[in-house]
Amino acid sequence: MSTVVVIGTQWGDEGKGKVVDLLTARADYVVRFQGGNNAGHTLVVGGRKIILHLTPSGILHPGTVCLIGNGVVVDPKVLLEELERLKDFGVVVTPERLVVSAYAHVIMPYHRLLDSARENRKGQGRIGTTGRGIGPCYEDKVARTGVRMHHLLNEAALRRRLEEILEEKNFLLSHYYGQAPVVLEDILREYTDYGRRLAPFVSDVSTRLEEALKSHKAVLFEGAQGTHLDVDHGTYPFVTSSNTVAGNACCGAGIGPTAIRHVLGIMKAYTTRVGGGPFPTELSDQIGEHIRTCGGEFGSTTGRPRRCGWLDLSVVKHAVRLNGLASLAVTKLDVLTGLPRLRMAVGYRCQGTVIDRLPPEMDRMEQCEPVYEDFGGWEEDLGQVRRFEDLPIAARRYLEAAQDYLGIPFSIISVGPGREQTIVLQ
Ligand code: GTP
Repeated sequence: MSTVVVIGTQWGDEGKGKVVDLLTARADYVVRFQGGNNAGHTLVVGGRKIILHLTPSGILHPGTVCLIGNGVVVDPKVLLEELERLKDFGVVVTPERLVVSAYAHVIMPYHRLLDSARENRKGQGRIGTTGRGIGPCYEDKVARTGVRMHHLLNEAALRRRLEEILEEKNFLLSHYYGQAPVVLEDILREYTDYGRRLAPFVSDVSTRLEEALKSHKAVLFEGAQGTHLDVDHGTYPFVTSSNTVAGNACCGAGIGPTAIRHVLGIMKAYTTRVGGGPFPTELSDQIGEHIRTCGGEFGSTTGRPRRCGWLDLSVVKHAVRLNGLASLAVTKLDVLTGLPRLRMAVGYRCQGTVIDRLPPEMDRMEQCEPVYEDFGGWEEDLGQVRRFEDLPIAARRYLEAAQDYLGIPFSIISVGPGREQTIVLQ
């Protein structure tokens, strides 16, 4: 491994956490480059569970340096809480182990308030945001009215910034959403305190990465959410507010495209989606329920039940193209055990014609009926399988058909949550 970007190929929750954890054991640096504390990895340390939303899971591997790039939106309160929780677990995070970009945008209290107020007002048309202020924070970044980490380190600069920003925010909050306005002095006090506590960690991620790359360190870029939640390439408007595709590893961390050696996609053996938005292979029946229960498909951040459905290969093939994937890791194959028949979508029937990818317009997307190929299922427990040849023949056929359709090799097959429950193919 030199520089690898790991990307979800579906709508997030592909089980990236386990694969990232496996690869992190060999990484010198782990970098987050987009999203905020709407991501979430559940990790088990010494038999106790810890959920990290912002800090890369590499923090649990001594010797790995974790970088939070400029493309991430940082809620300083959440970050400090995670550092405290890690301390309770015996992991003391030093500035040698964690660097936060001075250029990362900060999630402010009015971002969270606006996020929830807006989502509540939408009713039926809700995007299904986590209400953590991530969307409004990215909006401010693009509108050039954001607060960045370096502002928290300089009270006078933060005051000036807030004076420029708060008039409009408070107008929106009180006049449009009927909420109490926020108070400049309160925010200033709270956020300069966060700045003081986080100051040792705030630095320039881009130059840290330059040093790492020059000395041929192994660097892992950890994507959050999934390709089809990308703000440009996903099922807009039911998307997240950042670019989730591999190309954004460069913008969101401050490196050039020539630094990337390998892009690994993560594909769950079936499909899930959280919140609203098109999902052609969704199963609103007992099979969907079976997958949800056996796969533990409930959000690690929100606990919301995930929508479940058959594997949609058209969705994954589009991800192969958008990310320039070199190989794929398949996760949760074991969850399909016990289903007598399996299906995979290989295209859609839309207004009388067969197409191989979802159209960009929402109303056309919603009319797309999947075109399926059917496969036999298997009954065997896969949890103990460590070699491809030892998988039941039906499982091999399922995987081989998917690999043929996608045109890139599978490098990892995961057959259970444990680290050892993994088939490594190359
Ligand atoms: P994302 O970054 O959103 O993909 O987060 P995540 O990796 O934590 O995914 P998710 O929240 O969906 O959690 C995945 C869960 O599935 C974790 O509890 C994992 O331990 C578990 N898991 C991962 N791989 C496998 C697998 O191959 N089989 C089974 N049964 N469970 C798995």
